[in-house]
Order: sequence, then structure tokens, then C-alpha cells
Amino acid sequence: MTDRFSFALHATDGAARTGLISTPRGGIRTPAFMPVGTAATVKAMLPGSVRQTGADILLGNTYHLMLRPGAERVARLGGLHRFMNWDRPILTDSGGFQVMSLASLRKLTEEGVTFASHIDGSKHMLSPETSMEIQRLLGSDIVMAFDECPALPADRARIEESMRLSMRWAQRSRDAFGDRPGHALFGIQQGGLEPDLREESAEALTGIGFDGYAIGGLAVGEGQEAMFACLDHAPGALPVDKPRYLMGVGKPDDIVGAVKRGVDMMDCVLPSRSGRTGQAWTRRGQVNLRNARHADDPRPLDAACTCPACTGYSRAYLHHVVRAGEMIAGMLLTWHNLHYYQELMGGMRDAIAAGRFAAWEAGFHAARAEGDI
Ligand code: GUN
Ligand code: ZN
Repeated sequence: MTDRFSFALHATDGAARTGLISTPRGGIRTPAFMPVGTAATVKAMLPGSVRQTGADILLGNTYHLMLRPGAERVARLGGLHRFMNWDRPILTDSGGFQVMSLASLRKLTEEGVTFASHIDGSKHMLSPETSMEIQRLLGSDIVMAFDECPALPADRARIEESMRLSMRWAQRSRDAFGDRPGHALFGIQQGGLEPDLREESAEALTGIGFDGYAIGGLAVGEGQEAMFACLDHAPGALPVDKPRYLMGVGKPDDIVGAVKRGVDMMDCVLPSRSGRTGQAWTRRGQVNLRNARHADDPRPLDAACTCPACTGYSRAYLHHVVRAGEMIAGMLLTWHNLHYYQELMGGMRDAIAAGRFAAWEAGFHAARAEGDI
């Protein structure tokens, strides 16, 4: 254990990297996938089960938790870790991005953003200063700078103006965060798909100085090809000795392509959300358990998977509980999907450490090309 936040790079293979983030609440093996626990729960999973899938860290959301149950209440109850019974690291997003997608009556100014809650319409304000305070009250281990990002496609002037506002907010986030040993503050690069704006953003953030650097403003409708083109240069503009976090990504092939291009951390609702709608992700691609072809199939979802859904149940059973709307359907498929995502990350970490990422990647794509059994 350590009383400080640090990052050690253990090996690289091409642009891909593997290493370890150390925090007082435990280590985070990178590349890392962070399951999303928006409202102080990874939906349909007990924290111990999330840990069993191999997760080292969870993501929580400032926006949701400030509205319900409220950051002061969480703080009074001992902080987010105690509240949700997860004692390992938690990263919290800063709220601006969620305000833009979820809240109504938004008003953006230099100071911050005012908005109406999507839950009860009540009026709230988020700024770099209030976001830092809320994330402190929650007890977050990795705090995200307060930023803003336009939906793509957006014109260059809008992207440039928004990025520069986010960089001014990044400085205010840094100032408000202060010195909190054991806790980390990450800056968020913006700039859309414009290489020079990404570069300018990276320089602004590096000048301020952060414990890690996120790549924001991607996976907002630009498509995989455009995202990879951006990731061909965006991570390289960030400090080599700090973790790089690609926010809100993605499908398994997005994740593999991001790791290949030098990303160390990712989060996405996909494995948990799609598990609750009967979708599974396996080595051989996506499987829709609602499909009638599974109704009489006694085989497991994936015979090579060691998760409870695959070791204890048939495709026929999973199909039945999905169709019947039973809660166990969401529980089993979320578990399987998170287990698959963590195996994917572990496979990449091992391959990078052994200097055989290209061969691993070829195997990943070959298995998917075969399709489901
Ligand atoms: N989640 C996905 N993309 C983003 C982003 O650009 N900023 C923040 N704060 N969160 C995100
Ligand atoms: Zn499984």
C-alpha cells in the first residue's frame, strides 16, 4: 500500500502500454476498464461480484449523486466508498458532460452551468469550484476536472470556443482541488476531431499539470474510424509518464483499438446496460439472448467463460429469463459482460507485457470473424 497516487509504466509494445496506478485504496492494473456505477451502484451487481469480475476501480457520477441522494448526505454517511460498500478506488466524472446530455433548461456561462434536474426539475449550478467540492464530499480517489463538450458534428468555431472554456475551467479545477495527498486530479483534453485543437488542449493541460489526462469529447457520434484517427495523435500529445483515460468508450473493438493507440483507462455503460437488455458480448462478438434461436439451446453462452452465467446456465435458460423479464437475466448477463470485458483487459495487459500485442490483436479479430456458435 502507498499513501500517494502514482503511476508506473511496466512495458510498452508499439504505442500500447501496461502499468500500475497505485492509490491508498489499492492498485489499478492498466490498461483498465472501469465499470460504471453512476448512482452508487453498478446496476444488478453486488460490489463483491463486480470485484470478482476483476475490476480494480469503479466510476461514479457527480451529476447523479449531487441530485440524489446529495453529496452532503453521502459525506455524512461516511463517503461514497462506505455508502456503496466498495472499498477500492473510485473515479468520479465531474458533471458537465452529464448536464449536457441529461438535464434541461441548461444555461452555460463563463462561471459554469445552471440546469434543471432530470429527476424533479429543481434548479442547480455546477462550476469548477462546486464540482471539486462535490467530488471531495463524495471521497472520490480520482477527481475529474470540470469540462464541457459539444456534440459532434459541430463547427470548428464552436469546438474551439468550447475547448478554450474547458481549459480555463481546468485551471480553476486545479486551483479549487488544491493539494490532497492520496487523491488525484485528471485534466480532460478536448478539441473535437481537429488535430491542432487537440494539441493546443494538451499543451494547456500539461502547463497546468495534472496527475492524469483524459481524452474527452469522443464517442459522441463521430464513428470508430474518426475516433481512431483522432487517437492516432491525441494520446501522443499527453505526458508519457501519466495515465491516459479515454472517456465513455466503448465496444470491445473500440477498446482494443484505443489500447493499441496508447490509452490506459476506459469506462463505458455498455457491458452493464446491454446486459439488462439481453445483449451479451463474447470472444465471438455480440449475442442477443432474446433471439428465438436460443430457446432450445442447452449449450452455455460461452463454453470457455468461467462466469456464473456460463458455468451454471444454458442459453435456453438465459433466453427464457430475458424473455420473461426476470431480474436474474440482468444480473447474469451483466456479470458475464463485465467478466468478458475484464478478461479482455487482462489479455491485453499480458500481451503487452510479453511484447506480443499484434498477435493477440489478430487472434481477437479472428475469433470475432468466426461469429457466434
Ligand atoms: N464522458 C464521456 N466523454 C466525456 C467528456 O468529454 N467529458 C466528461 N467530463 N465526461 C465524459
Ligand atoms: Zn460468461
